[in-house]
Amino acid sequence: MKLFSLFALLPLFALSAAALYPTKVVYQDTSPLHLLFEDLVARSSGHLLVTSCNSSTLHSFDPARSEEGLTPIHTFPNCDGLMGIVEITADVFAVATGYIDLVVKRGANMTVWTVDLNPSRSAPLVRKVAVVPNCSILDGFSTVPGSPHLILAADPGEGVVWQINLVTGASRIAFNDPSMSVDGPAPALGVNGIHVRDSFLYYSNSDAATFSRIPVQLSANEDMVRVGNAAAELMSRTQPAGFDHEYDGFDFDKQGRVWAATHTGAVTRITQRQDGSFEAEIVAGSLVDASIIEEPSSVRFGRGSAQQEATLYVTTAAGQILAVDTSSPDSKEKCNIKQPRCI
Ligand SMILES: *[C@@H]1O[C@H](CO)[C@@H](O)[C@H](O)[C@H]1NC(C)=O
Ligand SMILES: *[C@@H]1O[C@H](CO)[C@@H](O)[C@H](O)[C@H]1NC(C)=O
Ligand SMILES: *[C@@H]1O[C@H](CO)[C@@H](O)[C@H](O)[C@H]1NC(C)=O
Repeated sequence: MKLFSLFALLPLFALSAAALYPTKVVYQDTSPLHLLFEDLVARSSGHLLVTSCNSSTLHSFDPARSEEGLTPIHTFPNCDGLMGIVEITADVFAVATGYIDLVVKRGANMTVWTVDLNPSRSAPLVRKVAVVPNCSILDGFSTVPGSPHLILAADPGEGVVWQINLVTGASRIAFNDPSMSVDGPAPALGVNGIHVRDSFLYYSNSDAATFSRIPVQLSANEDMVRVGNAAAELMSRTQPAGFDHEYDGFDFDKQGRVWAATHTGAVTRITQRQDGSFEAEIVAGSLVDASIIEEPSSVRFGRGSAQQEATLYVTTAAGQILAVDTSSPDSKEKCNIKQPRCI
């Protein structure tokens, strides 16, 4: 039945057959804490910083020493979970904390901190920079190119994107568009993953199962705003309503293609064709089978060596970190759209 629905979509958004990339679990949480990983970011050292929506501790993971597991970096007060994380300047990160209700998928006391991990420091320098009182939860984070004191944060409960000033702590709703909106009461989720790149704000909308972008710029008074009356552009849609195949956190490769965590168990790559249209391909895991990647929450390319830069790390709600080797497709797993394994 799900297979049939996918075929029904083909005329609108081609979900073409792609070769799958080799994917392996590099970390599986087996602690009594049952960590649900939420987001990650790669440091210049190659280490990953990993947030969990049911732990107040920011953890580090070294892919080169995966057997060492997670290393705690900092435990935040007045919270029980961490959400979005982004690098704002070299080895300085902004991260969201709060009391996260995993049932209704809403947060309280959502707070933004900066964590300075520059190796010249003997210990992380952690600063509370903003409380965002009117948000329902803060999820995906993005930097604002050209303005290191600003970040954007997706609020999937309100279906809006906040701008947060890391110096003054002030917050304002920067973007509020039907393509970001939330279609129902909690635990419904709207805009989720966000990133600004090349004068576009790219974003996923969980329940709408869409991936979109909108042209943005810094206004004269240094606010992130939409360019003129520019409309949001729909780039991809995973499924008709009623299926839990949602886009979540995402990253870009060097060619500017989007790689998006896609529930139930996949990574989707979205490529712009010469004619301007977009093509979405499942490139790791499977939409219908969560046995390879179990509920992916976010993805990030590694940093450091060429091998790391070609490795896409995936966090999951099942406490996994997976490595997808994007350097060459797995020859043993040539994907055929008729094989459920591949879509
Ligand atoms: C994290 O969430 C899982 C799944 O809901 C739960 O089993 C576990 O107890 C939670 N861990 C903590 C530390 O709250
Ligand atoms: C959490 O938020 C509530 C409601 O805004 C507030 O009353 C309370 O003081 C906050 N708690 C902490 C520990 O910041
Ligand atoms: C929060 O929302 C209320 C009601 O809309 C508004 O009066 C208040 O100024 C807002 N606070 C902030 C900090 O945005």
